[in-house]
Amino acid sequence: MERQEELAVGRRLLTHMDARTTDLAGAMFRNQVAAYSCRERAALEREKLFRDRPMFMGLATRLPKPGDYIAEDVAGMPVLMVRGSDGEVRAFANICRHRGAPVAQGCGNARAFICPYHGWTYDLAGKLLGTTDKVGFGGLDLAQHGLVRLPSAERHGLLFLRAKPLQAEEPATLDVDAVLGAVAQDFAALKLDTYPLYSADRVNPRINWKFAIDTFLEGYHIPHLHRKTIAPYFVGNCGVFASAGLNGRLSVPKTSIESVRALPEEERRFRPHVVSIYQLFPNALLIWQLDHVEIWRAFPDRDDPSRCEVEMTIYKPAASDKPDSYWEKNRDIAIRTVMEEDFPLGERMQIGFESGAVEEVVYGRNEPLLVHFHSSIRSALGLGA
Ligand code: FES
Ligand SMILES: [Fe+2]
Repeated sequence: MERQEELAVGRRLLTHMDARTTDLAGAMFRNQVAAYSCRERAALEREKLFRDRPMFMGLATRLPKPGDYIAEDVAGMPVLMVRGSDGEVRAFANICRHRGAPVAQGCGNARAFICPYHGWTYDLAGKLLGTTDKVGFGGLDLAQHGLVRLPSAERHGLLFLRAKPLQAEEPATLDVDAVLGAVAQDFAALKLDTYPLYSADRVNPRINWKFAIDTFLEGYHIPHLHRKTIAPYFVGNCGVFASAGLNGRLSVPKTSIESVRALPEEERRFRPHVVSIYQLFPNALLIWQLDHVEIWRAFPDRDDPSRCEVEMTIYKPAASDKPDSYWEKNRDIAIRTVMEEDFPLGERMQIGFESGAVEEVVYGRNEPLLVHFHSSIRSALGLGA
């Protein structure tokens, strides 16, 4: 976040701490529990949230060199993102044009993509170079059988794609500034292209994908659920909220913020004392963790609304001289709090929701980012506020 914004957020946090207050949403928000368990709702979300709009894919440092690629499934669409020999990042449906096998798996570096099934070969720009059997496929127009292109973008050190093929006449580059709104300035100021990937972990909790996001959107639960892990380091139920279109930001103070209080304005550095959680609509969180970046992305299961896949990646500063043990400790804390405290409780909540005993839940005014997230979902689904 820019310097003036950092100071303004820091000042507001100190004021809230003195008054024992926090930023508030305009009103409480009631959400139907069916939003977490209903199959029709899940199908609508897949179409409107995961196929029709830009999806955040992580930091561009995941693809530092030509030929670097990531292949994964985005809500039922196998996607391939690759940095071309010209340095440009492109995205494709990871579906061979012969009989549909994925041409790449996981992540890595390639000079070309060779389909594992019958060996058709594609270049880094998705062009079909050859079919391996010249007679069987004699006369096949190679130019018409390249990988299906998806629109994508690399912006402010972030990667995006849309998991729906590029339409005729549509630009191949997504306009992500329009989507990011005001948080784009924060990302530009953080210089995210200087944070290489440190680790990637994936889990499959038995929760709806929205639970995985919800759990990061308020600091209200920290003194309760996390009292044995991270609670001693945070000021509970205190945050500064900002909305940016369908995205939002919540800044939460660590108790160490007290060390800044007595300093004159020009010496105040809040960044090492304030965790900023960016909710990137619909399914991702980019968390400024004081000296590094943590990213969570949640993907709904293809069929079952009560299951999802969650990825946590940690990016550490390129310039840091801290040993790996320091970053390993950070990774371990994130895994212990989220995967051993938040998600297991979420699994019990999912069961409660599916029991049919309660019809709705209520989000408080002290949970403004949670309220914003769910109103954004409702508006993106065309369900009204
Ligand atoms: S499916 Fe790819 S070469 Fe046959
Ligand atoms: Fe939590």
